[in-house]
Amino acid sequence: MSERFSRYFAETVVLISVEWERERNLMTAAWVIPLSSNPPLVGVAISPLRYTHQFLERSREFGLNILSTEQVELSQYAGTTSGREEDKFSKGIFAVEPPQKIRAPLIAGCFATMECKLADSFTTGDHTLFVGEVLEIKVNKGKSPLLLHEGGYYRLGELLGRYHS
Ligand SMILES: Cc1cc2nc3c(=O)[nH]c(=O)nc-3n(C[C@H](O)[C@H](O)[C@H](O)COP(=O)(O)O)c2cc1C
Repeated sequence: MSERFSRYFAETVVLISVEWERERNLMTAAWVIPLSSNPPLVGVAISPLRYTHQFLERSREFGLNILSTEQVELSQYAGTTSGREEDKFSKGIFAVEPPQKIRAPLIAGCFATMECKLADSFTTGDHTLFVGEVLEIKVNKGKSPLLLHEGGYYRLGELLGRYHS
């Protein structure tokens, strides 16, 4: 099975922001999933090859910044450049906002930002599933979340109905 199965999901695109010993980094992630309501838990699958992986293991916290439709370029840049090679914050393209409960910076202009404390982590094949407890949320109602599907970036389309539980 060589085909990339994940292409067929409609994924939310986020920036995972981290800080450790005054050094900051961030990377794009689309393998993100809510896992629990109470406590509020979110999972993000990060390859051990990412520089961000090392930060997460050490700092045990992260910012989860749900990108807005205006931030496609930020997704591409943070997702194709490693913090090992250049300081992604030095370009001046990421405006930061101060966090309340963690040290990692939050990214301005996003649809939503969440401050997460690491609750658990598991090896899942060639990735690590980092499970974060969401401590703070800010939502920017004027923005729309950025989606990824079959290698393309999209905005939300037509409302087809309402979910009833
Ligand atoms: C749209 C998009 C989604 C991505 N999703 C993930 C992901 O969920 N997990 C992962 O480990 N890498 C993902 N990546 C790749 C990392 O963002 C990329 O390797 C990045 O350069 C790592 O940066 P770092 O080495 O500074 O941590 C994605 C890249 C893009 C462009």
